[in-house]
Amino acid sequence: MKTSSLNPLAGFRHAHLPPFFSALLISCLLAPPTTTEAKCAFPAIFNFGDSNSDTGGFYAAFPAQTGPFGMTYFKRPAGRASDGRLVIDFLAEALGLPFLSPYLQSIGSDFRYGANFATLASTVRLPNTSLFVSGLSPFSLAIQLNQMKDLRKRSLASLGNEHLPPSAVFGQALYTFDIGQNDFTSELGSLGIGGVQKYLPEVASQIAWTIKEIHDLGGRRFMVFNLAPIGCYPSFLTELPHNTSDLDVYGCMISYNDAVVEYNKLLNDTLENMRNMLPDAHIIYVDTHSVKLDLFRHPKNHGLVYGTKACCGHGGGAYNFDPQVMCGNSKMISGRNVTATACGDPQNYVSWDGIHATEAANKLVTQAVLTGFHFHPPFPLSLLCDLHPID
Ligand SMILES: *[C@@H]1O[C@H](CO)[C@@H](O)[C@H](O)[C@H]1NC(C)=O
Ligand SMILES: *[C@@H]1O[C@H](CO)[C@@H](O)[C@H](O)[C@H]1NC(C)=O
Ligand SMILES: *[C@@H]1O[C@H](CO)[C@@H](O)[C@H](O)[C@H]1NC(C)=O
Ligand SMILES: *[C@@H]1O[C@H](CO)[C@@H](O)[C@H](O)[C@H]1NC(C)=O
Repeated sequence: MKTSSLNPLAGFRHAHLPPFFSALLISCLLAPPTTTEAKCAFPAIFNFGDSNSDTGGFYAAFPAQTGPFGMTYFKRPAGRASDGRLVIDFLAEALGLPFLSPYLQSIGSDFRYGANFATLASTVRLPNTSLFVSGLSPFSLAIQLNQMKDLRKRSLASLGNEHLPPSAVFGQALYTFDIGQNDFTSELGSLGIGGVQKYLPEVASQIAWTIKEIHDLGGRRFMVFNLAPIGCYPSFLTELPHNTSDLDVYGCMISYNDAVVEYNKLLNDTLENMRNMLPDAHIIYVDTHSVKLDLFRHPKNHGLVYGTKACCGHGGGAYNFDPQVMCGNSKMISGRNVTATACGDPQNYVSWDGIHATEAANKLVTQAVLTGFHFHPPFPLSLLCDLHPID
């Protein structure tokens, strides 16, 4: 992608840069401009999250993934809840880093450029163990943080293990968070919006305090992705109680989407408070919500066709989502063997399986993120890194 024409930092004055950036810019100006190799201030990414950014952790722990997952890019199930790459994959590509190895993957992992602690169905809060039965991951944010601390401790003690990050990496890395969706949705059906809202402040503050803990260990650059408009997801449109009067002109549920917007404000404010406590940290709120909302509302403006209809599912209709037979699964229903298969053109869909985004949507979201327009506060990513084109 062309970053130059989209560079939102055109008016970003050198004098306004925090000391870290100023030092970096000066060192860039003094450096001999001989090398053409792309440079980046981030030698690694450490990611915390759920299925939206799991690159294979959950299925390393609980091998089971089958079906058309990965069909577009990997040509096989690759532990990702998509037909291809995720936003975290594209972000790594843009920063010139390899795809992140899942921390839980014991075969073939390489943590020199970071690690991915995300697992499908993870929550921020420690989940009620009775909810494990309904599919939540035991690897909640506090566990993921402990895993990161352990990886760090063992890396610092290893003095150059070929698969572990050099110790300096932990202070320079980008720490990313894409988590909270399952806290928001897993009890929405039973408790309703009002019930869930009671514990959302705790969700936001646990994310902020996780940042504080990593800051105590030397981390300084953090990106927190906000929550997606789940009121536009085919799965929730099928499963969550609502009246047709709750649908907006784009076919999304107003009440649930409003609740997401409220949570995102809360997250934004909570991060602002933490920013004030940690003035030497860069805590960036990344508004992917507005990008995703626009994909659902105006898929055709972005080269897509279908917004609130899943590519991989069963049942057809407006949503092509059946909670009894989810993407890749088969089930006997009234004597018939029914399989939820993928569409032939995932590149035309926002939603892959009713819950997760297609590679096409993930690429569009990443391209929007890389413009910098969706960062709060402004963060000169394209000055800190020669961004690689993503394809
Ligand atoms: C856990 O879930 C069970 C079953 O829904 C419920 O009875 C119990 O009160 C919950 N415990 C907590 C701590 O929320
Ligand atoms: C649907 O509308 C009816 C009548 O206005 C109301 O009683 C009910 O609570 C609504 N249901 C939902 C899920 O909003
Ligand atoms: C986040 O909060 C800041 C104030 O701290 C505000 O300027 C910004 O517009 C908010 N962003 C969003 C997406 O709500
Ligand atoms: C149903 O169909 C799927 C996919 O063709 C197949 O893998 C599975 O074994 C079938 N199940 C039964 C019970 O026939």
